[in-house]
Amino acid sequence: MKIRSATRLAIALLSAMGATAYAQENPFDAVFALMTQDRAPDSPGCRGCHIGPGPAIGTYFGNTQDEVEMTFTVDRPDLIEGGRGSTLASFLRDGLMPLSGSLWTDCELELLYTWLDQVAPTLPVAVATEATR
Ligand code: HEC
Repeated sequence: MKIRSATRLAIALLSAMGATAYAQENPFDAVFALMTQDRAPDSPGCRGCHIGPGPAIGTYFGNTQDEVEMTFTVDRPDLIEGGRGSTLASFLRDGLMPLSGSLWTDCELELLYTWLDQVAPTLPVAVATEATR
């Protein structure tokens, strides 16, 4: 009996996970969930510096998720250019950011990479150009 209900639970969980993957959320959701946290020594967040109702410390990213996403994809694409090799990714990976905050874990960096892979391919366009020469 015990084994059977455990199996059933596992199947239910797997179907729930499948349904989530199928819904195709915006991969930036998970990234913003980290960034929007208030800055603190034990926080991975940027709110209070780059994120807030108005500019505070450093480059202003915006307040809402849409504003912050637009900043990276439209206004400051230079920050995400190069994807995993971009300024944004390397600052977080190397621990330069969040300033006086807590480093993003490997799992959290993976969430960033998932989004970057979609909006800013890691291989520069030059490589594709090279290949067609
Ligand atoms: C305590 C304040 C503080 C926190 C928290 C913080 N930053 Fe920064 N950040 C700065 C300052 C100051 C600079 C240098 C000035 C600048 O270029 O914005 C900077 C620079 C940057 C830059 C380069 C900006 C540019 O225009 O070249 C990036 C990218 C960045 N931070 C990302 C982040 C991210 C992502 C977070 C949150 C996960 C974060 N920072 C958290 C203060 C902060």
